[in-house]
Amino acid sequence: MGKPASNIIPSHIAVIMDGNGRWAKSKGLPRSKGHEAGVKSLQEFIKYAGKLGIKYITIYAFSSENWLRPESEVKTLMNLLRKYLKSELKTAQKNEVRYRFIGDLFRLDADIRDLIRDIETLTKDKQGLTLNIALSYGGKDEIVTAARALATEVKEGRLTPDAINEETFASKLLTYPAPYPDLLIRTSGEQRISNFLLWQLAYTEMVFVDTLWPDFSAKDLDFAINEFQNRKRRFGKIED
Ligand code: FPP
Repeated sequence: MGKPASNIIPSHIAVIMDGNGRWAKSKGLPRSKGHEAGVKSLQEFIKYAGKLGIKYITIYAFSSENWLRPESEVKTLMNLLRKYLKSELKTAQKNEVRYRFIGDLFRLDADIRDLIRDIETLTKDKQGLTLNIALSYGGKDEIVTAARALATEVKEGRLTPDAINEETFASKLLTYPAPYPDLLIRTSGEQRISNFLLWQLAYTEMVFVDTLWPDFSAKDLDFAINEFQNRKRRFGKIED
């Protein structure tokens, strides 16, 4: 399959990277190997997305519900995250990716939070792709937190209830000021949102592919973008 036409490349792609466990199982490997392969796949994906000129990627790396997985799996994922952040920190200077982290980051270990702070600081002026990494993230929680921030401003007399509208609300979301995702890709055949970017996905085109995340390749991204390009986005209106 050829590269997608660049004039209608989505500006923002959200990704639910699912199927690491099943990939490992299908090869008779421990789940940890699936997550390791998932990190490699992510790194290749970001490189290719940058080449295509995509401006924003938001990935679901660890959900608030993932804390409920067995302790050993949470530990494996956190160790992998440490390793990933250290390696990105080493190479960040050489590329144009700006890293941002969204979610309830206070639940992460202090050393991981330090790595996050370092990589955000180091890359804050990068002009290429913005990579939002959702960690300890839940969409409902994000909305509740935004409501609480607005309520506090009202209580302190800095905002009137009448001034609360979609724009003021959206400005409290963790992805702000990134545009909403144009395209959501979920791998591994599951077809649900799983508490990811609930507000932001209101008019997002969704593409579900059977490929397990560690096998997701440039070819799969081309496919998803081609699907996107064949959709008619009407945003609730009728075609003119
Ligand atoms: C889904 O696979 C994947 C996750 C829960 C985590 C996603 C994580 C990665 C791709 C790698 C880690 C990324 C970083 C930045 C550390 P699953 O375990 O739900 O797979 P299954 O549904 O087949 O069991």
